[in-house]
Amino acid sequence: MSVEDAKPPSGQDLFDKVVNLCKRRGFVFPTAEIYGGFRSTYDYGPVGALLLRNVKAAWWRSMVQLRDDIVPLDAAILSPPAVWEASGHLENFTDPLVDCRSCGARHRLDELDDPEVCPGCGTRGSLTDPRQFNLMFKTHAGPVEDDAAVAYLRPETAQGTFVNFANVLNASRKKPPFGVAQVGRSFRNEITPHSFIFRTREFEQMEMEYFVPPDEAERWYEYWCQERLRWYVELGIPEDSLRLRSHDADELSHYSVATSDVEFRFPWGWGEVEGIANRTDYDLRQHTEHSGEKLDYFDPSTETRYVPHVIEPAAGATRAMMTFLLAAYDEEIVRGETRTVLRLHHSLAPYQVAVLPLSRKPDLVPTARKVLQLLQPHSMCDYDETQAIGRRYRRQDELGTPYAVTVDFDTLDDHAVTVRERDSMDQDRVAIEDLVEHLRDKLAA
Ligand code: GAP
Repeated sequence: MSVEDAKPPSGQDLFDKVVNLCKRRGFVFPTAEIYGGFRSTYDYGPVGALLLRNVKAAWWRSMVQLRDDIVPLDAAILSPPAVWEASGHLENFTDPLVDCRSCGARHRLDELDDPEVCPGCGTRGSLTDPRQFNLMFKTHAGPVEDDAAVAYLRPETAQGTFVNFANVLNASRKKPPFGVAQVGRSFRNEITPHSFIFRTREFEQMEMEYFVPPDEAERWYEYWCQERLRWYVELGIPEDSLRLRSHDADELSHYSVATSDVEFRFPWGWGEVEGIANRTDYDLRQHTEHSGEKLDYFDPSTETRYVPHVIEPAAGATRAMMTFLLAAYDEEIVRGETRTVLRLHHSLAPYQVAVLPLSRKPDLVPTARKVLQLLQPHSMCDYDETQAIGRRYRRQDELGTPYAVTVDFDTLDDHAVTVRERDSMDQDRVAIEDLVEHLRDKLAA
């Protein structure tokens, strides 16, 4: 088959193509689109929900399943002000907001190229003095909307781990170094949400708090920086599209003494996908002081008591999903036509296998359905009997499905099917009785 590399899209062109594909194929839809959408909020469609789930599953596998030093937790999203008072978020979790007196646009001061000029209308000297804007979403728990009922939607999952430190320690019987992993929704009232699902007001995080003896903090910080970078590479992001960048002192969060970001080369430049922070004993000490509950560890081997330090790899699941989509998007020319293919890692692809009867003729469909039922317990499968086979292959390429299994008229005689591989488009004839094992080997490779 004649295949030529097309010039791969980049920059704004790549971004537009990925956003367009996400809508067309059902990865991501604007929230409440029939009402005009809702402020940079998005819904995850049939294949987006699968991809996002697979991103989180891959993280869970590497952080929880394959280790014996990290335990899971699923803490509440709603929490009382006391938590955020102690954590410092009520005071410090702010961005500097400026308004343009000329066009009314709002900007984050720290994101402006020229702090004297409004990037919306270009007017010089039109921006107000900055005021600190707290990013936490505030609500009321219960029917009375008074101060006593104030609650916050968490802006990070981490505080749920810190306030449960003693509970987890007692129940799990772990000792430092050990970690607590959480995956879940977080909320930030971002002044400037932007770039599709890169920065939204509602998003998902994958965070792990790793509690260590104080004198081991630096070593574990270095360890987690390398581990987390490796995770993205193993899941198919080219190494030259990733880098670790350590924060300058003036960029550090109020709780951190050192932070490095795993950055990806986004179409608009390098951007953060994950931050690895050395949070010291800041959070446990703050919660001890504010709650009166001792959050420390007694080491029976040395008979000493200490407050563990925390190394935190904090990733965005929705942002990682966007990163994987951008890195996987490719185009090539096949027989004079452009083929779009998402070269997603097998474990991330929404479907691992598509079952495609060559035609909708009644003699093929029952066999194709039997093949589908054979594969469903092992892999997430799509089934598609509409349109010409070539168009169905192209659709699966755009969804990133690694293998397509075609049931044709020969299948009725030789009890074999054609297995087509997404990237090479190579085809193998495989006996139905060997199919599960054949695909299992390929998907494990
Ligand atoms: N607990 C530490 C913490 O929350 P962070 O750097 O603010 O650190 C961690 O957030 C990760 O969460 C980021 O690297 C990013 O991937 C993701 N994230 C943060 N804000 C986000 C937003 N508004 N939209 C999407 N993802 C976001």
